[in-house]
Amino acid sequence: MAEVIKAPRGTRDILGEEVFLWQRLEEVVRKYALLFGYEEIRTPIFEHTELFTRGVGEETDIVQKEMYTFTDKGGRSLTLRPEGTAPVVRAYLEHGFSVHEPRVKWYYIGPMFRYERPQAGRMRQFHQFGFEALGFGEPACDAEIIHLAWMIYQELGLLDLSLEVNSIGCPLCRPRYIARLREYLAPLEDRLCENCRRRLVSNPLRVLDCKVESCQEVFGEATFPKIQDFLCDACRKHERELFTLLENLRIPFAVNHRLVRGLDYYTRTVFEIKVRHLGAQDAVGGGGRYDGLSQALGGPDVPGVGFASGMERIVLLLEKTTQPSFPFRVYLAPQDEAGEGVLLSLSRELVACGIPFHLDFATKSLKYHLKHAQRMRIRFVVIVGESERTRGVFALKDLASGEQVSLPLSELLARLRKERELC
Ligand code: HAM
Repeated sequence: MAEVIKAPRGTRDILGEEVFLWQRLEEVVRKYALLFGYEEIRTPIFEHTELFTRGVGEETDIVQKEMYTFTDKGGRSLTLRPEGTAPVVRAYLEHGFSVHEPRVKWYYIGPMFRYERPQAGRMRQFHQFGFEALGFGEPACDAEIIHLAWMIYQELGLLDLSLEVNSIGCPLCRPRYIARLREYLAPLEDRLCENCRRRLVSNPLRVLDCKVESCQEVFGEATFPKIQDFLCDACRKHERELFTLLENLRIPFAVNHRLVRGLDYYTRTVFEIKVRHLGAQDAVGGGGRYDGLSQALGGPDVPGVGFASGMERIVLLLEKTTQPSFPFRVYLAPQDEAGEGVLLSLSRELVACGIPFHLDFATKSLKYHLKHAQRMRIRFVVIVGESERTRGVFALKDLASGEQVSLPLSELLARLRKERELC
């Protein structure tokens, strides 16, 4: 026999009871999108590679190491989207929103692709939900985005959340900090890891993100320059206003001077939300302001702010804390071929009443059907055998209590309607 084909490394099937947790998560995301006035946008799974090299940044890990890039039969270089922000800004520009409706609020839910080393909470195909507000330069919009993320996590019952915020300045003030950073680190180069030495040349801000112990020691020293001391007046004002707004919203946060994030499009605000007990992959979401992204993609000067959240990581947490709520369904278990016909007719009535059902077939024994219903988390089983047919009734078994009653059609439907409402 040929070997059974498995899903590629870093991808997985979402099925069984886990699906209910995904549905709950999506429901909460859509509920808050509606409440905060964000409309859905669905962008393609693949885009021109250039969108990400220009948008996310040539020097980022995502572009250098993690993209699924291929040449199609027409010779174009395409890339499976590693993130959702650059595609959303691309769509905004392509459809002329910057001209006719410059302020939009959008959200998305969908798969993203990064060639990373898979581990718990880190996949090669993973899912994000994200929110983007384009055309909004006000710090109140940064606060709204963080508020929205916070509310979604609260509603999902995620505990032990921590919010870290930082400002990484703008093209006016950031180069001064980078110059100071290079100057400060130059004599300490031999204490830095190889990656940091390389980054000091190519993408100096990213050294702050390094987790290697010897680098951490260098960054932890009291004289280490902080970006906060280099912010221009406008960035400083933006940051101060955001902090006040977060305090007013009673969202607890910590300022992390070394938070820089792994995508190059950020300006001013960056933030990350982490959850304890998630292990190494503890960031459930992150985002920030990206006022230069539109121009990097050939558009006009349009401010933007947003965030995205890894859904696999949230589902891992929900699995520990949440009982999935199973939808109300009825299991139809015929005992013979004629019973199948009766239950097929019953299914028409159930559809008319809006009662969901699962119809199985008479090739299986009653014992099998009862076990199967239990596995499917279905409480009520309708059984039709010869005895029910001759009496013109349906047997209704409640697997929770073990009780079984025989009911004519009208009473059966009334009872199922009542049970569905109680559910
Ligand atoms: P990001 O920090 O790269 O930001 O990803 C956001 C979230 O996606 C992470 O916090 C994490 O929860 C999840 N995530 C990232 N990579 C993986 C992976 N390999 N497996 C599972 N989960 C993962 C962005 O993507 C930005 N587009 C966020 C943003 C939106 N900034 C502004 N607007």
